[in-house]
Amino acid sequence: MLNLKGVGISFGGLQAVKNVSFGMSRGQIKALIGPNGAGKTTLFNLITGMLRPDTGEILFQEKPLQGLPPFQIAAQGISRTFQIVQLFGHMTVLENVMVGRHVRTSAGLFSAALRLPSGRREEAAIRAQARYWLDFVGLASRADDYASNLPLGYQRLLEIARALATEPELLLLDEPAAGLGINETDKLMEIIFDIRTQGISVLLVEHDMSLTMEVADEIVVLDHGELLAEGAPREIQRNPEVIAAYLGRDWQQ
Ligand SMILES: Nc1ncnc2c1ncn2[C@@H]1O[C@H](COP(=O)(O)OP(=O)(O)O)[C@@H](O)[C@H]1O
Ligand SMILES: [Mg+2]
Repeated sequence: MLNLKGVGISFGGLQAVKNVSFGMSRGQIKALIGPNGAGKTTLFNLITGMLRPDTGEILFQEKPLQGLPPFQIAAQGISRTFQIVQLFGHMTVLENVMVGRHVRTSAGLFSAALRLPSGRREEAAIRAQARYWLDFVGLASRADDYASNLPLGYQRLLEIARALATEPELLLLDEPAAGLGINETDKLMEIIFDIRTQGISVLLVEHDMSLTMEVADEIVVLDHGELLAEGAPREIQRNPEVIAAYLGRDWQQ
């Protein structure tokens, strides 16, 4: 469903992503791993249209994405969360998810937020859908709290609920377990599996290797912007180059 062909971008003199090619199929959970600065978030920014590649092609369901603005890419069915949580702290938990629904028909998160006040006919339907996704991530009981009052782990789940509310076919998660405790990470793992059960594919950037190795069907390894390896978790764990560049020896099983 997603195909990257020779994708590259540089910032000034720094080639952040170099000639990266990989694909993922429908229903897959794929992980993108690598050291800090490897280009993982930049790749998410390229896929979601926040950056335009200097080289290469990005195809989603066989149609090229590069050049399209982020809201059009979202409308085609790609949604994401951010490495640094981006919520509307002054809005309630429920309203934050409702913004996700509005994104499907408007020009972006911020303009969507400005349009939130009621009076729109679809308001009730949007509210019901938002409640569904809040319940899906286990946050229904916090619906009326301010988002800024949630602990970090719940804020990350809220961001996932908001991304799901856009009804994506592909969800990109950027370090969703960062800052979470073990119990929260276990819950996140279940939610990632549940997301796939809903028919949504997941591309996951994550440093927590126990989570990554457990959920991923396939792993892509980036190092210094380049694709270092691609394969099943067991192959990646044994790959000497991946061990040298990133994993260390802990993950050999
Ligand atoms: N907008 C930007 N302008 C300049 N340099 C950037 C920008 N975004 C990322 N970089 C640089 O590109 C490299 C890859 O960054 P990033 O994609 O955030 O890595 P990762 O997510 O794998 O840790 C880093 O060296 C980073 O400093
Ligand atoms: Mg990053």
